[in-house]
Amino acid sequence: MNNIYGKLASHVYNLDKYIGKSFGDVEYYRERLKGCLGSILEPAVGNGRALVPLLEAGLDVKGFDASQDMLGYCLAHCAERSLTPALSQQTFEAFAYEERFEAIVIPTGSLQLIAKHAMAAEILSRFLDHLRPGGRLIFDLYPHDLFADSLPNIRSWQTETGDLLTLTSQRVKADLIAQTTVSHLRYELWSEGRLVSSELEFFTMRWWGVEEMTLTLRAAGYVDIVVSGNYDFGRAPRHGDEVVTFECHRPQ
Ligand SMILES: C[S@@+](CC[C@H](N)C(=O)[O-])C[C@H]1O[C@@H](n2cnc3c(N)ncnc32)[C@H](O)[C@@H]1O
Repeated sequence: MNNIYGKLASHVYNLDKYIGKSFGDVEYYRERLKGCLGSILEPAVGNGRALVPLLEAGLDVKGFDASQDMLGYCLAHCAERSLTPALSQQTFEAFAYEERFEAIVIPTGSLQLIAKHAMAAEILSRFLDHLRPGGRLIFDLYPHDLFADSLPNIRSWQTETGDLLTLTSQRVKADLIAQTTVSHLRYELWSEGRLVSSELEFFTMRWWGVEEMTLTLRAAGYVDIVVSGNYDFGRAPRHGDEVVTFECHRPQ
């Protein structure tokens, strides 16, 4: 199984991408959603890094995530702030809600965790079905992943109790035909010099061409597609941009 975000992976995510951390995305999504009165869905909500500031801005956001560990962090952050969003354990592939949303938002390239084009296309259709007529889908893609440096990398974090968490990542495969990379992510928790637990995640990401995604969105039925580089709304992406954002609508 890939992209599990288990106990140690979620702990690292929460230490590294804590509430209050932004890649420019939190401000961007808050601005794009300003004045949105209807309910908003954040699939793959994670620890709530994006969700919490959107709720604090007065937006009505619900979230789901495949990882119970990630949802545990999200619930705790919300409870500390007396925020009570509807959160549930669901997946991109099978999520379902009765209601239809004013907007669906997916920051941090989470859609790239879907390895197969056909499945991603199905998920984009599922998003469309969950939007109200005229509703918006906004999401990010990171364009450089397929070609990025593949050297092994080690990072570490001190936990809340003074233990040490390490992450050793090593890309083991880049498939230029499937447009995917697979990395081994080895998480280790150390206490007083002893290894307490470890976890190995197989982390798969799919790389998308900008035109490829635009065509896929059109084929799924989206209209008024705006593609932006580096969180500059309406500015076409160009070489060197770190992030590309798509905003598109379900037809009225
Ligand atoms: C990079 S984190 C993003 C978290 C949060 N949205 C943020 O902006 O910080 C990716 C999240 O996707 C979730 N995820 C991975 N595969 C998933 C799937 N198939 N369905 C739903 N969530 C999934 C992981 O559990 C993880 O919380």
